[in-house]
Amino acid sequence: MRRKIELHDKTFEEFISNKDIEEAIAALACRINNDYRGKEAPIFLGVLNGAFMFMGELMQRIDIPCELSFVKLTSYHGTTSTGRIKELIGLGDNIFGRHIIVVEDIVDTGESIRHLMRSLVGHEPASVEVATLLLKSGTYKNDITIKYAGMEVGDDFIVGFGLDYNQLGRNLKDIYIVVNE
Ligand code: IMP
Ligand code: MG
Repeated sequence: MRRKIELHDKTFEEFISNKDIEEAIAALACRINNDYRGKEAPIFLGVLNGAFMFMGELMQRIDIPCELSFVKLTSYHGTTSTGRIKELIGLGDNIFGRHIIVVEDIVDTGESIRHLMRSLVGHEPASVEVATLLLKSGTYKNDITIKYAGMEVGDDFIVGFGLDYNQLGRNLKDIYIVVNE
């Protein structure tokens, strides 16, 4: 039987094992190493909080010269008619003329990536690609190409390996899926 856990008011069951996650990350790292070898050192830009664990595992397998940094997307309801506003904080390094690889835990609708891209492009990097551990391919509706996706998943809510349910579950080494009662 699949292992079950309780977080807040919901039950989750084991969905993707740590072994499968590690294999997907190793394959992504291999592609990135090949694509960036011989180029000017890229900057890996992790999106907090969710990407912390993926970033750590990915970076251990990157064997080309590179830099790394973290940013955070704050999300709040603004008072303007545009509704939801996301602000990018922590982009302290100069990314002008640099190759950027955005590191995300999961891309769902692509809304977060769209905001992030808009902020980054204003700083005129040489290139920007996205590396995400998980892609909800059914709900992704955006014209930004996600070049590096570790695994494609359905639209069910998942937790673990950095992903949270109201801040719980980020520390789990496997990924769990919500059980719909
Ligand atoms: P998007 O802006 O719709 O692409 O959503 C991206 C963000 O929503 C991710 O960075 C996560 O923080 C969150 N998210 C989307 N799906 C899930 C999920 O299944 N579990 C936990 N967080 C999720
Ligand atoms: Mg996130």
